[in-house]
Amino acid sequence: MPGSNSPTGPLLMLLIKHREAYVSGQIIADSLKVSRAAVWKAVEALRAEGYLIDSIKSKGYRLASVPDILGEREVRLGFKARRLGKKIYCLSETDSTNTFASRLAAQGEPDGTVVLSEYQSAGRGRLGRKWISPPGVNIYMSVILRPEIPPDEAPLATLMAAVALAKAVRGLYELDARIKWPNDLLIGGKKAAGILTEMSAEPERVRHIIIGIGIDVNMPAGEFPEELRGISTSVKLELGRESNRAELVRRLIAELEGGYADLRAGRRGNITAQWKELSCTLGRMVRINTLRGERYGFAEDITEDGGLVLTQDGEREVITSGDVSFI
Ligand code: BTN
Repeated sequence: MPGSNSPTGPLLMLLIKHREAYVSGQIIADSLKVSRAAVWKAVEALRAEGYLIDSIKSKGYRLASVPDILGEREVRLGFKARRLGKKIYCLSETDSTNTFASRLAAQGEPDGTVVLSEYQSAGRGRLGRKWISPPGVNIYMSVILRPEIPPDEAPLATLMAAVALAKAVRGLYELDARIKWPNDLLIGGKKAAGILTEMSAEPERVRHIIIGIGIDVNMPAGEFPEELRGISTSVKLELGRESNRAELVRRLIAELEGGYADLRAGRRGNITAQWKELSCTLGRMVRINTLRGERYGFAEDITEDGGLVLTQDGEREVITSGDVSFI
């Protein structure tokens, strides 16, 4: 990592701004207020990190490609933090970003802190499952939220995160990403991302909520374990090309920002309406594996706290947790 006086950050911003065109070394030096030798050194430093920078003597420098790194500088490129992402931890390895974020939250870490890791040695999924977390290809991200809401409104945080996730993927790529209850992201009918929400609360108030999001971004088919191959996918497999993870993280934080504003302001209806619009569960016959056994029925609606309303032979039941399959 370059030192704080290195102009690599500003140089990168400038090259990204002029992405299509060459910028002369003199213009760069003038606008960054450094010598041409310093510009050359910074270009070399970026190249050593994997940035492809074309140079032509008479024209200057042009950014040809950005490496897929989840470093703080890459994530912050062109990103303006409002409430979320003022502090971003970019780890190369951790047990689980949710566990790491919980530890930080217990020590008083502020609202909106984001934790990212290139690899998780003990990634956790819903219902006590493992979350497959190979290095360098996916997004493993946790966000610490401290909304001033009663604990019974906390399930809305998961709904709003699922909405933000679907909107980020749909907005960035032309993919029909949809939410399967409660909060799986499906693309082309297969799971590409999941959310694990964990909360610490007193009877009257939420202390903190950790929203953990795992997205299979550039995961090749061969990395999925045998048993997941027919039901899981990655953005890369659906798109037919790799995508830049830092760009997706930025978009996701931006979408979460809007959802979090709704959550804090108590705009429940906004969150549930968007969830319903993006859902692929409602209006279908489903089977749900719950801790109390299997349930079958028509997925009619969701309640304000995220329960699934199931109807069967005139009976109505609200399911609060489980795994849905379509029948
Ligand atoms: C699911 O089972 O669908 C939820 C998966 C959530 C995985 C993410 S990856 C980042 C965060 N850290 C974890 O250990 N789990 C969540």
